[in-house]
Amino acid sequence: MAYETLIVETRGNVALVTLNRPQALNALNSTVLKELKAAYAAFHADEAIGAIVITGSERAFAAGADIKEMQSLQFADIYKSDFISGWDDIAKARKPVIAAVSGFALGGGCELAMMCDFIIASETAKFGQPEITLGVIPGMGGSQRLTRAVGKAKAMDLVLTGRMMDAAEAERSGLVSRVVAPERLLDEALAAAEKIASLSQPSVMMAKEAVNRAFETTLEEGLRFERRLFHSLFATDDQKEGMAAFVEKRKPAFNHR
Ligand code: CAA
Repeated sequence: MAYETLIVETRGNVALVTLNRPQALNALNSTVLKELKAAYAAFHADEAIGAIVITGSERAFAAGADIKEMQSLQFADIYKSDFISGWDDIAKARKPVIAAVSGFALGGGCELAMMCDFIIASETAKFGQPEITLGVIPGMGGSQRLTRAVGKAKAMDLVLTGRMMDAAEAERSGLVSRVVAPERLLDEALAAAEKIASLSQPSVMMAKEAVNRAFETTLEEGLRFERRLFHSLFATDDQKEGMAAFVEKRKPAFNHR
């Protein structure tokens, strides 16, 4: 399928999505959302895809929701259509998604990165929630996901002042998992995605579900949820294969990859 705002490729068992609106620093408009939803649906339907990498350009991962598209919208209309709620579908991807971020990840761009399972950043990355400087607030999860990622003090600082933080500060704060040189960014993200895609898909998807449950429930319930998933994996042939391969000192050949 041809996309207007995305470049979609597959690299082995990994899907690579590149946001492609260079004239607007990859600002996220309704076409980007519609196309990302279609791309994600195709990745989930494709058994061979084990992980997804989403990236932007060297200058910008994405500079936010599209301000030009939003500027004249009226309250009643956006309330009735529940404007931007469609991004929840992107956050609910069941296969693992890695954000490879270079340059600006602002507003909706930072929020899109935070919808991914983890963020690998280039040394040039800049994260922020500048919506307050436009007379609004984050609308795609920034006040919630940023706070869970970096804690109240740093989230308040960023959301109330609209300032940007660089990659080093983002790594110190726990927003990103790794920072690499700009020229290493894509290779690093693709290598992580390839590793994930080489593993047993049910265990990968359950691991993702289990970690995400930590944000939704009590410790007691989360531990029970994790243990039940752990038990259920013993019903898969991949558990037998993974453990046999360890004991026999060989590489596992998983069926569900
Ligand atoms: N929406 C629409 N267009 C955008 C955009 C956005 N979020 N960000 C950048 N652009 C456009 C600019 O308008 C400009 O287009 P023209 O050449 O046609 O004027 C082009 O991209 C290049 O941008 P700049 O000339 O501004 O580039 P710069 O290097 O001087 O500045 C920047 C870069 C600091 C990222 C600056 O573009 C900027 O501040 N962008 C807006 C960031 C922002 O406020 N994001 C939050 C959006 S609201 C939101 O996301 C709501 C939500 O939570 C759902």
